Amino acid sequence: VTPDYDLEAWRRRVPLLRSFIPLNHCSQAPQTDPTRAAAEAYLDSWNERGMDWDYWMAEVERARAAFARLIGAAPDEVAITSSVSEGVSALASALDFGGARCTVVTTEAEFPTVGHVWLAQERRGGRITWVPVRRGVVELEDYDAVLDDSTLVVSATHGYYQTGFKQDLAAIAGRAHAAGALLLVDAYQTLGTTPVDVKALGIDALACGALKFLMGIPGIAFLYVRRELAETLRPTVTGWFGRKDPFAFRVRELDWAAGARRFDAGTPPVFAAYVARAGLEIIEQVGPARIERWTEALSRHLIEGGRERGLEPLGTADPRRKTPTTAYRCPVDSHAVEAALRRRGVIASARGPAIRLAPHFYSTRGDLDAGLDALAALIGPAAGRSSP
Ligand SMILES: Cc1ncc(COP(=O)(O)O)c(C=O)c1O
Repeated sequence: VTPDYDLEAWRRRVPLLRSFIPLNHCSQAPQTDPTRAAAEAYLDSWNERGMDWDYWMAEVERARAAFARLIGAAPDEVAITSSVSEGVSALASALDFGGARCTVVTTEAEFPTVGHVWLAQERRGGRITWVPVRRGVVELEDYDAVLDDSTLVVSATHGYYQTGFKQDLAAIAGRAHAAGALLLVDAYQTLGTTPVDVKALGIDALACGALKFLMGIPGIAFLYVRRELAETLRPTVTGWFGRKDPFAFRVRELDWAAGARRFDAGTPPVFAAYVARAGLEIIEQVGPARIERWTEALSRHLIEGGRERGLEPLGTADPRRKTPTTAYRCPVDSHAVEAALRRRGVIASARGPAIRLAPHFYSTRGDLDAGLDALAALIGPAAGRSSP
């Protein structure tokens, strides 16, 4: 398998590659020429015009539209939030846990912030049921054991941040809807590396931030809510941008913007939106299907190359069932190993008992071999067992 786009041309647009091998997309994307240019465009506009709210808001709308295109939704079905936590909190605040349907079915593979948002709903009558992680993966049958007619919402991460295991969203949507429940997906570990069509998959709501595989920075996240569903919801986590006309300034009136825009809250994250739009356009230009084809080949290389060097991959070994992230068991302090890898020119990401290597569309097999060699020298069978 070779990439069916000009990978070398993209590499020239990632300045960090001159000094490091970035393999940390599960945490943070590197800067690129287009995202830097977008950041500079905001700084220039701020400096030269003092303020330019009309233009700045148009940029926020361009980011919203780019995200909507990526997931096959309409811009009105996408809210701009500052983080996944805020988006999921706003959605949770709009749900009613007072009736017979009051259970949230979620998984041990969620990023903790999502679990925390649901646990916080216990005070409002929510009951949380956990689908377990076993050997780094989540089995579909384990959903069947907990879904019933008390389930209000199924909250499932697409990719598991620890092992890179990817859940089957169509199968989960089928199960959630058969039980009469909604499906919320956290797509932070997958969007940008695989095609996701929320309509075809039957996803009711989806949250994602910009800074991992979408090539952006912190400060902005997106919340998709299916239009018909959004129109029935009234979040208590809200603010003036969630109104029909924020600039009407009617302090004693609470109306609701159309669709998911009612989940907008305060002044939007303009600077982050500039960068997010540029990052989303990179993904659009390369194409999620082409990225998936290449990153699956990279996953295969990471799993086989890890085994050849005596490293133990965690989770699934099937590249089609994982994100581009491959995690290896780390027998010593993983944060010390991350620091030692950086001294060897490789940016990896430690998480608990694992070291994660997470390449993206511009990564080469050579990058992976360099990362694996450095990792094996630190924690492989031949490495000394003293601290790295
Ligand atoms: C899957 C997933 N969800 C959520 C988050 C955090 O979201 P936020 O900080 O935007 O609330 C992360 C961050 O690493 C993540 O990997």
